Order: sequence, then structure tokens, then C-alpha cells
Amino acid sequence: PSLDAALRVAREFDLPSDQVQRGVDEFLSQMAEGMAKNGTNLSQIPTYVTSVPNGTEKGLYLAVDLGGTNFRVCSINLRGDSTFDLTQSKVAIPRDLMVAPSYKELFKFLAKQVESFLETHHNEHFEATVRRRRLTGTTDEYRREEIFDLGFTFSFPVHQTSINRGTLIRWTKGFDIPDAVGQDVCLMLQDAINELHLPVRVAALVNDTVGTLMARSYTSPGKTETVIGAIFGTGTNGAYVEKLNRLTKLNTKGEPAADATQQMVINTEWGSFDNNLSVLPNTLYDQQLDAASVNPGIQMFEKRVSGMFLGEILRLAILGLAKDATARLLRGDGTLIPTDSPLYTPWGIDTSFLSVIEADTTSDLAETKAALFEHFKVSNASTDDAQAIQAIGHAIAKRSARLSAIALAAILIDTKRIDTDETVDIGVDGSLVEFYPKFVDYIREAMREIKGIGEKEKKVRIGIAKDGSGVGAALIALVAHKGYAIES
Ligand code: BG6
Ligand code: GLC
Repeated sequence: PSLDAALRVAREFDLPSDQVQRGVDEFLSQMAEGMAKNGTNLSQIPTYVTSVPNGTEKGLYLAVDLGGTNFRVCSINLRGDSTFDLTQSKVAIPRDLMVAPSYKELFKFLAKQVESFLETHHNEHFEATVRRRRLTGTTDEYRREEIFDLGFTFSFPVHQTSINRGTLIRWTKGFDIPDAVGQDVCLMLQDAINELHLPVRVAALVNDTVGTLMARSYTSPGKTETVIGAIFGTGTNGAYVEKLNRLTKLNTKGEPAADATQQMVINTEWGSFDNNLSVLPNTLYDQQLDAASVNPGIQMFEKRVSGMFLGEILRLAILGLAKDATARLLRGDGTLIPTDSPLYTPWGIDTSFLSVIEADTTSDLAETKAALFEHFKVSNASTDDAQAIQAIGHAIAKRSARLSAIALAAILIDTKRIDTDETVDIGVDGSLVEFYPKFVDYIREAMREIKGIGEKEKKVRIGIAKDGSGVGAALIALVAHKGYAIES
């Protein structure tokens, strides 16, 4: 194949410094807009979480987590010394529950997972409560001490009205269940749990970014408060600690403004940053992806940044070059791509493929060729083919990291956290940041190019809060249970 043609495509994903800077300027202005009113690109959702933990919190809580690669159920024992024990089970969500006419099936499935988790991991409790009741046919209420408080990590945009109330604004990341939109998310889960008569109370509703922020604060307490919790996984989003008096949209009913010391965690829903594409790049492949998605015109930042979409951009680029008479990628006549190859299936490439080919340093790119075979049944790819695909994959992911820097930097600038002498801590989670080689390095490189960050990038600490949202949800359930705000 012609490597030149592939490199030309790779260059379309370059994001030069000036474009990064324009991105930051626009992000700042869209943040301000989202603080003042509803219905904007950046939703800037109040979470009713008013401070972050310090590691001394204690107790046993349940958490469920919907919205990443897997649905998880876990129980978390917070030990009160910045450590915790976590027991968890995870399953993939069946595709037919993600895109469906009714939410009932999905929530029934979730409640069933909670039931089998309790039966497997808290069997004594299950025997004494659920099984005993089922055997004796009693319908007595559970005693308060028999009931587990559950934190529900639900990683979609929710219009939150209290710590355990909120209605779904829209689905993202390929989910599409129309009758759930506008419904209370906690009630949908609580109803399904009640159908099974489980001793579980949905006590808190948490976005995964908020959970990540809380978990990171719990495990790394001390002088450095975590400022941002961010996800770079199937989707992307960030939450940060904001001064309540800047959230003027909360204040439209003439209540007195919050005083300058009050804080609240804000869920930005930055996946929808710049949906009108005033600064975001927009290659032919971005356009094709958007047109074929379940939500064209929405989540335009996420569609250029997160794992679910990067593979699809690469797939479209590979197919484009394979059909191009001059590029002749994979021989250009279709013979190397069998008709049943997942390369022909929309969303057929997941991020792990990008991570594998990026990590391949063998001289003949043997690992990339093996991955092409394993993932897409493509055999006999030449070294040039592998090089072309590696270069495009690299460019797509690097663009994603540079775009990610825009969001993180804008928040650090807007909150003035970057202007103090202290270390600035950011907790991150998700398959992209965890497994894509050097993703954080590329973010840092772009951050240094941004006005107002530059050399100060050195005091930014970016650390993984692995499986953070389970622990974070437990911490928020604890607040809800105790009825007091977490001390910072
Ligand atoms: C998990 C968190 O570790 O990461 C989830 O527990 C989060 O809440 C997820 O949604 C994001 O990563 P991915 O790659 O699974 O989307
Ligand atoms: C999507 C969701 C958001 C979530 C993010 C990461 O952007 O809308 O709520 O935090 O994915 O999972």
C-alpha cells in the first residue's frame, strides 16, 4: 500500500497548539454558560455532594455501577483509615437491554444481579432476611439495621434534585431506551429491587466521575485535596469541586446567594462540550461516525475522545483507505478482509485494539498483524499495512489525549487551582487512560502548551482511582445514611 496516503490521513488528526488553546477558551466560556442556565452544551449539573472525604469514613455499603464496560455490584467495607475491602461481581450488559423500548427489563436485570450478589457474598444475611421471609411467606418490613444502603453509580446525564433523586436527561454511549428519559433513576432501581423484596435502599445517586473524585479523595487524603474526577473509558466526563455561589442557575428563585465558602461537586457532562463544533476538529470519519450514531449532533466531544468511539473512527479510516485505489491498504481489493470480518461491523473495534497496536514495538509489527487476525480475521497483512494502521490509530488516540487536556486545563484555570503553590490532584479511571500507552503523557504535553498552565503542569498530579466509583458511591451512600455532609 501507499504509506503516504495513510500518513496523510493520520495528519488529519493533528491538533496543533493554537487549536488546543481555542478549545480551552471555548471550554471556559461554555462552563460559564452552564453555570448560569439549563439546557446548555456543558450541563454543569449540581450533585448535592458538598465536600470530599478525608479517609476516616467507616461502614459497610452496597454499590452498583451502570454505564461503563460492565455492570458491577459490589460491597465496600470502608475501614476508616483510607483503606477499604471491596467484593465485586461484574457482567456485561446484554445489548438487547441497552437499546430497548422499555426500561423495565434493564432494571429487572440489575435487581437480579443485586439479588445474586447478596446470595453469593452475603449469604448469611440473605438467609436471615430474604430467604427466611420467602420460606415463611411473611411480608413484614425489614428492620432498619437489616437494610443495606446502596450507592447507585449511574453514568449518564441526570438532572439531580437531591442526593438520591434525579431524572435522566438523555442516554449516551449507545444506550437508547426512550421511556426512561425523564424518569427518576433511583426509583426505577428501587422499584425493581422492591419487586424482589430485597433489604436494600437506594440511598445515593452518583455519576462515575463524582464517584472517582470521592474515591480518590478517600484514598489519598492529607494536604492535597482532589480537585477533579475524570473518566476516559467507554465515555468521557469530569466532575470538580466548585464554589456554590458561582452556580448562579441554582439561585433563580430569589433565595439568598450561597456564601463564598460553600462548595459543591459539579458534574460537567463535558461529553457534550461544543456540540455545535465551533472549535472541535471534524474529519470525514468524525462526520460518518456521528451520522451513524443513535444520537447525531450530541456528545460531540465524547465522540472524539472516548474509547467507544476511537475504535470506530479507526475502523472507518481503515475501510476508507482499503477502498481507495491509490492507498490500497490491505491490498485494496477486499481479498484480505473476509466478508464476516468485524471490520465491516459498526462499533466492531474496541479500544483494546488501539492499545495493543500502539504498544507494538517489534520491527515487523508482528503483534499488530496478530491483532488484525485475532480481532478482524485479516491474515497476510503486510508490514506496510500494519504500519499504516498503527500510524492512524496513534494519531486518533493522540488527538483524543490532546482534547482531554483542554477539559482538564480549563477547569484548573477556571477554578484558579492552578494558581496556588499546592499540588493539584486529579483522579482518573476508565479503560482508555488505564490501558492506552502514554495517554497521560500526551495529556501533559498538551497542557504545557496552554496559556495559564505552561510550566505549572509539573504540579498537577494525575492518578488512577481504579474501580473508583464503587467506593465513591459507598462514600456518598454513607453521607446520605448519616444525614450529614462529608467533612473535608
Ligand atoms: C470503572 C468505574 O472502573 O470505570 C465505572 O467503576 C466507570 O464507574 C468505568 O464507568 C469507566 O471505564 P470503562 O472503560 O469501563 O468505560
Ligand atoms: C458519558 C455519560 C457521563 C459519564 C461518562 C463516563 O459521557 O454521559 O455521565 O460520566 O460517559 O462514563
